[in-house]
Amino acid sequence: MNFSAELIAWYDQNKRDLPWRNTTDPYIIWLSEIILQQTRVEQGLPYFNRFANTYPTVAHFAAATEDDILRLWQGLGYYSRGRNMLKTARMVMEQYNGLFPSDYEELIKLKGIGEYTAAAIASFSANQAKAVVDGNVFRVLARYFGISEPINSSAGKRLFQQIADDMLDQARPALHNQAMMEFGAMLCKPKNPACGICPVRIGCYAFKNNAITTLPVKINK
Ligand code: ADE
Repeated sequence: MNFSAELIAWYDQNKRDLPWRNTTDPYIIWLSEIILQQTRVEQGLPYFNRFANTYPTVAHFAAATEDDILRLWQGLGYYSRGRNMLKTARMVMEQYNGLFPSDYEELIKLKGIGEYTAAAIASFSANQAKAVVDGNVFRVLARYFGISEPINSSAGKRLFQQIADDMLDQARPALHNQAMMEFGAMLCKPKNPACGICPVRIGCYAFKNNAITTLPVKINK
């Protein structure tokens, strides 16, 4: 099995049952991805459930007031996320007839949706072949391939995106992306990664070269 196939096999056996993984509704996936920006899954999960129950469709969300949204957002921090979401929901009502886009090129035009979020929504909802690159993916790729280019330099970001694109399983982009993120979150963790039970340690540069603690590299700007 290649790298991606190993991670997908691991994911099938070890994944957490998270509610946004049981849908292909781009609106619901968008809710989860914006909530999970700068927020851990355990903290974001109850917020996701409250939002998805209160606003089951983008039309419900768009009809809320900013006060409603910020009240539900209370405690999550980075309140601009909530405000941007309301703008996006209203834009979707006006420009997309209330049909939340699932195409990468459309998603990237929306407020608060960058490359990562557009790739996540497009792959999870429509199986578009777009590789996600988040903190988990940076760490997994840096360690496995031994990449010492800083993850927060422009050259580094380009390099990691290119490697992520090269590694993407073109036939199973949604599974591949979920597997990469889950593997980074659960096994290839920032501190004390579980190398002892890692299915790809044989090919891992950092494992072979004792570089787990030095990769990925981040520069102070
Ligand atoms: N963090 C961001 N997106 C996620 C997802 N789809 N599953 C788990 N954690 C995530």
